[in-house]
Amino acid sequence: MSLAGVRGRFPALRSRKGQAVPAYLDSACMSLVPRDVLDAMEEYYRDYPGCAGRSLHRFAEQVSHRFEAARDGFAKFLGAPDRNGIVFVRNATEALNVVGQGIDWQRGDRVLVTDQEHNSNLVLWQRLARERGIQLVTLPLPDDGSFDSDAYEQEVARGVRLVSVFQTSNLDGRSLPVQEVVERAHAHGAEVLLDGCQAAPHAPVDLAKLGADYYALSAHKMLGPTGTGILAGRLESLAKLRPLLLGGETVEWSTLTDHALRPPPHRFEAGLQNYAGVLGAHAGIQFLERTGRDEIAAHDRALNRRVTQALSGEPRLRVLGPPDADRRPSIFAFSVNGVDPHDGALFLDAGHTVFVRSGMHCVHSWYQKHGLTGNLRASFYLYNTTRDADRLVAGVRQLIEQMPGAAAAS
Ligand code: ALA
Repeated sequence: MSLAGVRGRFPALRSRKGQAVPAYLDSACMSLVPRDVLDAMEEYYRDYPGCAGRSLHRFAEQVSHRFEAARDGFAKFLGAPDRNGIVFVRNATEALNVVGQGIDWQRGDRVLVTDQEHNSNLVLWQRLARERGIQLVTLPLPDDGSFDSDAYEQEVARGVRLVSVFQTSNLDGRSLPVQEVVERAHAHGAEVLLDGCQAAPHAPVDLAKLGADYYALSAHKMLGPTGTGILAGRLESLAKLRPLLLGGETVEWSTLTDHALRPPPHRFEAGLQNYAGVLGAHAGIQFLERTGRDEIAAHDRALNRRVTQALSGEPRLRVLGPPDADRRPSIFAFSVNGVDPHDGALFLDAGHTVFVRSGMHCVHSWYQKHGLTGNLRASFYLYNTTRDADRLVAGVRQLIEQMPGAAAAS
């Protein structure tokens, strides 16, 4: 399927009551859902609404088969070494918690994060520091998007139990050199948990090559429904975790006094699962595969270059992260001097039907450290067009014209 044919598959991209079709530039928060995903979910409830892995009737057989096919699909999509290393969870936040709350921590174990992590990959460790005595170590990231390999090497060489970092930042779109991150960590005996939320939707991932011990992602950023995500892990690593939830499907057997856990992934999938959601998420990644993941990456990059280039001469506009759009292809995060980010986002919506996100993007710690109150963020995906990019540019130009800068206002 070519990128040109993609857009018509997304029902949300339509005009409402004579208004313009939205320029939806908030896919880093959640992506839109194609008809294919809606159909897969409806089909489940309409045609085989059973519970997987339990009953033996035809509905149950069919959903069991499709649920496990979805596991195969995600394993292939991520290049995972083993299909049983794919655990269905609600979102990346849950995946991170399954790992963080499942490790058998010893007091003084060190966890390394960057200073630009989403709250999902921060507050968990802060609580574990208070309650279990782990030590949280923060690696500062330079503002220009570079990575200080020496500083990282020094930290892991001092002994770290787990490195837990983003692959691509939801704040400014930069990517870390994750292959190097994993190799250096492993060389010093540390495990690695990657937050792949902003990476896997936009470019191919090869987990077998990458070698990360754990990989977290949310399917709602990759055309799937909300409330669906994946924890992908190496089987040896997953098998050491203490499951967060126990219940139906997690045990081989139980007596009134004891039980034996099933191996991964089932020990982590307690209770009836979100079958419709998982089947929808599977349809979402199949859609991405049909479209072509390299093509999607190139498309994001081209749109971001266009916007970056067009707005490069605006003195009141500051872009976050690497100046070069190619190094933050799916995200254009910016602030306009003197303009409150939320006012800016409302202006773009009201006047231009351009939808962006504003605020701190769940990375409060970074803004607090930099003394900032937030910014605006446009994020690109396969259904966006050059027209969307141009509407953003026109909206931002008008915003700059109509809202006075800090100096002018004083
Ligand atoms: N992490 C999501 C975002 O950045 C919610 O918008």
